[in-house]
Amino acid sequence: MRTDTPQTIYRKDYTAPSYLVDTVELGFDLDPARTVVANRMTVRRNPASAQREIELYGEDIELVTLRLNGRTLGEGDYVIEGTLLRIPNAPEEATLEIETICVPESNTTLSGLYTSNGSFYTQCEAEGFRRITYFPDRPDVMARFTVMLRADKDKYPVLLSNGNLIEEGDLDNGRHYALWEDPFKKPSYLFALVAARLVCQEENFELADGRTALLQVWVEEGNLDKTDYAMQSLKHSIRWDEERWNLELDLDRFMIVAVGDFNMGAMENKGLNIFNTKFVLANPRVATDVDFQGIEAVVGHEYFHNWTGNRVTCRDWFQLSLKEGLTVFRDQEFSADMIGTNTGRAVTRIDQVRTLRQAQFPEDAGPMAHPVRPDSFVEINNFYTVTVYEKGAEVVRMVQTLLGREAFRKGMDLYFQRHDEQAVTCDDFRLAMADANGRDLTQFERWYSQAGTPVVQAETRWDEQAQTYTLRLIQSCPSTPGQPEKLPFHIPVAVGLLGRDGRDLPLTVDGKNLGTTAVLELTDSDQTFVFTGVTEQPTPSILRDFSAPVILKHGYSDAELVHLFSHDSDPVNRWEAGQRLAMSRLLKLTGQVAGAGNVVDRLDLDDTFVDAMRKILVDDTLDPSFREQALLLPTESMIADQLDVVDPLAIHLARQFVRADIGARLRTELLAQYDANQTPGEYSPDAESIGKRALKNLALAYLNAAPDEASLALAQKQFDGATNMTDRVAALSALVHARAPAAADALQRFYDEFQGEALVVDKWFAMQAAAPTTDVARVRELMTHKAFTLRNPNRARSLVSTFCAGNAVGFHAPDGSGYGFWAEQVIALDALNPQVASRLARAMDRWRRYTPDLQAHMKRALQQVAGQAKLSNDVREVVSKALA
Ligand code: PHE
Ligand code: ZN
Repeated sequence: MRTDTPQTIYRKDYTAPSYLVDTVELGFDLDPARTVVANRMTVRRNPASAQREIELYGEDIELVTLRLNGRTLGEGDYVIEGTLLRIPNAPEEATLEIETICVPESNTTLSGLYTSNGSFYTQCEAEGFRRITYFPDRPDVMARFTVMLRADKDKYPVLLSNGNLIEEGDLDNGRHYALWEDPFKKPSYLFALVAARLVCQEENFELADGRTALLQVWVEEGNLDKTDYAMQSLKHSIRWDEERWNLELDLDRFMIVAVGDFNMGAMENKGLNIFNTKFVLANPRVATDVDFQGIEAVVGHEYFHNWTGNRVTCRDWFQLSLKEGLTVFRDQEFSADMIGTNTGRAVTRIDQVRTLRQAQFPEDAGPMAHPVRPDSFVEINNFYTVTVYEKGAEVVRMVQTLLGREAFRKGMDLYFQRHDEQAVTCDDFRLAMADANGRDLTQFERWYSQAGTPVVQAETRWDEQAQTYTLRLIQSCPSTPGQPEKLPFHIPVAVGLLGRDGRDLPLTVDGKNLGTTAVLELTDSDQTFVFTGVTEQPTPSILRDFSAPVILKHGYSDAELVHLFSHDSDPVNRWEAGQRLAMSRLLKLTGQVAGAGNVVDRLDLDDTFVDAMRKILVDDTLDPSFREQALLLPTESMIADQLDVVDPLAIHLARQFVRADIGARLRTELLAQYDANQTPGEYSPDAESIGKRALKNLALAYLNAAPDEASLALAQKQFDGATNMTDRVAALSALVHARAPAAADALQRFYDEFQGEALVVDKWFAMQAAAPTTDVARVRELMTHKAFTLRNPNRARSLVSTFCAGNAVGFHAPDGSGYGFWAEQVIALDALNPQVASRLARAMDRWRRYTPDLQAHMKRALQQVAGQAKLSNDVREVVSKALA
């Protein structure tokens, strides 16, 4: 915790490391109250650097001894300033021996070496290794690690680190040891150790080249009944990486360890992935379909990092998206390929679009907006964002869309050929793609350097005489902090034209036959494309498959949207047409509600919209998974994003009205779909069953948006009879949101049955935090529950963050009580865990867009946090950017 003004770090200031590290030998004497770390490393001057001092970082550790080539250094031989330790006048080559002490049991930040439920775990990305020992803790210093672990055998029977187990055995005093060696050089952020009482599911798995690898999933005792899906996902990931990219597992052993206290989702440490339990533990009793999907995606994500991140890593943290954007793209493709069907792929794509609109577009339009490759930061931990991850993945996807799948694969091959075991930049990735295919991606670079969501305005004209169809595309991009002007982006715009019968028309541009979906390349700020041989007035389907992360504006009529919603061969744009129809109603109704002083009175939903929804709902030729997506309304925050002045209550009331009206008017059809989409028999998290459950449970939610006796009884019956967590939480949530008299009893029974399952207790808190009946007083009451603690990130997020970021009505209470609560919790959390606090702090990002009264309250709360003398860099950066 620092009290001085935080420093901004700039990408342009990058300099090469002064010294390189060849080998590191670490010795750990593990003790929760006092762990001694011995670090011996061989270093040599980096010829690429003009700097002559050895530079090491250390944070929150006690330096015991520092030896250089056997000589103990005293004061005067080195300088410590903040986290930097400098050794001037160092020889060309040296052996450094450093002994430090740290206190894992009081490390509540969960960065560095910490204890969770009494056992030892590490988290080193981004800059946690310096909390373990002094080291040039930057990703462009790659070294070979050997690790000796010593600990009490009884308390910590399992000792793990990266790479291969070389030796293990007993020591005196009930202690034992294990020696690990990682055959690959790696940056320090990929170091990991685990010393714990754990059990594992393991399997020998044959790799494509005939070798076998030992796969292990380590969990606490009592959780071995929840490891099957993670293991299966790991095997699928290995196969997929072999088949799609010809990338093999390069180790004899690959371990996944689940830990209950973890800041993020999971971490790709070489050969020893450490996971939040949320993304490992699952069985039908405790995990929902969404949980199963999350496990597959995150297991894949971390495994894929072994090549995109570990073998080829980042030169500096500004290049974070080099590994994260690419690896998210890879895990998205993996999830889509695992489903395999066209609709299945489209449904995963729709999910990605929803995430972008829900979280990334708002980030791009707020005070923390930054390019995919940021130019500066105060605290790197604040830049593990939806922009770096999800927009970064969109940027990679656009490269594939522009080049084509095969050409993209060639680019990947060249990328690995050129950069294996190197620390490189986003430019290196782009150049490999360009060079492998003789393409110029110079302008494309702006996707990395310019923040903000581009707006593409489309204008169309059909010339009956000439039989041409002209599509004019105008792009612009709003200014973002530090970037007032933007240059045009290189945007792939996938376009189709629907005829009157709903079928795709053949496309010809410049005499070239482009099939039925043309990928147009928009590079100017204003550009026109002419389709020839267009014999009828078509309906344009623009930005198919969401071919670029932009906001598309086009003056669609309702009739055109209904036509697209009924017929578009591109399922993503078909869904999109429905979203546009819904959004226009939601915006109009929100205006009406606000105009009436937030009273729902004489609102009306038109037949055109309701009929369009009905048609999709009952269309049995469509996959249930797609129908579910098509019937889901834009979220409250997506609606808010369309408004200049946000009144959260008006939005909520308008959206609730639409849900209730659909529930009432489509009651018969919803009931029929509820019955038709049951999944009897043994639970299976396959795409088809997931789709059916999703549609069935959406039907249940709609029915209970305007609850009558029968709907409530249906929810109660489902809750009582549920044989899996998906159906159980869907029913419970329906009861809670319907304010059913039976909800309280159901919540209590749910808690009683699952109180031993931490991840289910998280769901229990989250569901109550999100309920529109929950206000600050109720959240405070829940915080006194014996199962609540701020110290566990999952638990803190389940209640506090869900309320602040997922319950607009409660959080934005007109008296400002939600914001006061927010300030209090940010401050309390910051003292424990700055990373978790800082994420919560971002709930206020867009405070300037709310009604004047709310704004005033929000500003006061922000100032209250900013006014704290003691604040982490993490929170300080977020609140000061919000207030700037
Ligand atoms: N690198 C991790 C991932 O994306 C995320 C992470 C970052 C985890 C920082 C912990 C700390 O898979
Ligand atoms: Zn990642």
